[in-house]
Amino acid sequence: MVFRARIDRRTALRGAALGATLALEPAVAVAASRPKPPSMPLGTPIGCAVQAELLAQNDAYRQAIIRDCDMVVTEDALKWDRLRPSRGKFDFTEGDAIVRFAHAAGLSVRGHALVFHGQVPPWLDTLRTRAEAEAEMRKHITTVVGHYRGKIASWDVVNEFTDDSPERGTGLRDTIWRRLIGDNYIEMALRTAAQADPSAQLVLSDYFLEFAGEHYDSRREVMLRTAQAMVTKGVPLHGIGMQGHLYSDRVVDREAVGRFVREVRALGLVVLVTELDVIDQTFPADLRQRDELVAQQAFQLLDAISAAGGADAVLTWGLRDRDSWTRWHKPRPDGLPTRSLPLDDDLKPKPLHHVMQHFRRRVVASEPPSGNTKRSP
Ligand code: G3I
Repeated sequence: MVFRARIDRRTALRGAALGATLALEPAVAVAASRPKPPSMPLGTPIGCAVQAELLAQNDAYRQAIIRDCDMVVTEDALKWDRLRPSRGKFDFTEGDAIVRFAHAAGLSVRGHALVFHGQVPPWLDTLRTRAEAEAEMRKHITTVVGHYRGKIASWDVVNEFTDDSPERGTGLRDTIWRRLIGDNYIEMALRTAAQADPSAQLVLSDYFLEFAGEHYDSRREVMLRTAQAMVTKGVPLHGIGMQGHLYSDRVVDREAVGRFVREVRALGLVVLVTELDVIDQTFPADLRQRDELVAQQAFQLLDAISAAGGADAVLTWGLRDRDSWTRWHKPRPDGLPTRSLPLDDDLKPKPLHHVMQHFRRRVVASEPPSGNTKRSP
């Protein structure tokens, strides 16, 4: 399969000047082990995680987002430590800036993440009782989702709830919420979010749902079991997020991904790719080779999902390599800067950009909503 950088109508309308840049990009060969499903007239909305500071500082970054995205997700702005450094106060400055930018540019917004064990303020450890934890979680969700009611169309309601030993016990991660409230904190979070904005798309998202091996099978099982339980109880859940942090040394299990997507869809839910990027630690240093391998990894995931019915949205975790969390958290052993995202440090499109634009046009959109499924944001 050959990806050519062509611009779709929407991109062309958004920025004719940038079209010339894209059209000049070399074709990139990416191996596909299956025939493509027929193209569909509508593609999957695509987007990326954004940081408020960058939006404020950098016009070229803003323009690239407007050109390349249909939606954005708040990378760090709405995490507990940013929103609530102290218990009594909510600071919406960064979130509001992202929403203002997105709406002015005609982009929709995903919110990340209402309940998450990561990036929480120290005061959270002072919660002691079930009642206290329940009240704090409800207050947080009600305030944040309420603040963005009608403005943030889709939420990661509970993020990364699967235990790192998913085969043990219930497979749920031991977090402060689960310890104090019990396993039903997930259900409670979803119900509270739905009350605060009944039209929002509510998503459970997790990592390591993409690879081959028993560990990853167990993680997929925990996610499916949890989703099934929510649907059975009539809990307002609309989508499952596969984060899509891919690794250069791990194989995307196309068959298992396909099965997983079909099972999620059979529950009446949609699948989203919520945090796509490629951790390139073991790929060769050579830029051209590395960029193609990164694109191939992402292609394998998106193509497997497409063949199983498609994703409701695909978002990369950042747009430009220099802003990627992988630079800090997953550095290469040779010290070279990581290249995990669609655009390079100078905002030039790389092969991963072409893969994203390819699926933007062609991924089979989800079937019309049924049961407790909501429309895409
Ligand atoms: O960019 C600054 C740099 O200028 C500064 O000198 C340096 C020194 O501290 O920090 C750099 O920022 C760090 C940033 O990652 C770089 O991407 C922040 O300190 C660090 O807190 C931040 O971490 C965030 C990470 O979650 C925390 O675990 C990332 O922004 C964020 O992308 C990442 O996102 C998570 C999702 O929420 C959940 N799924 C996994 C994903 C990746 O870990």
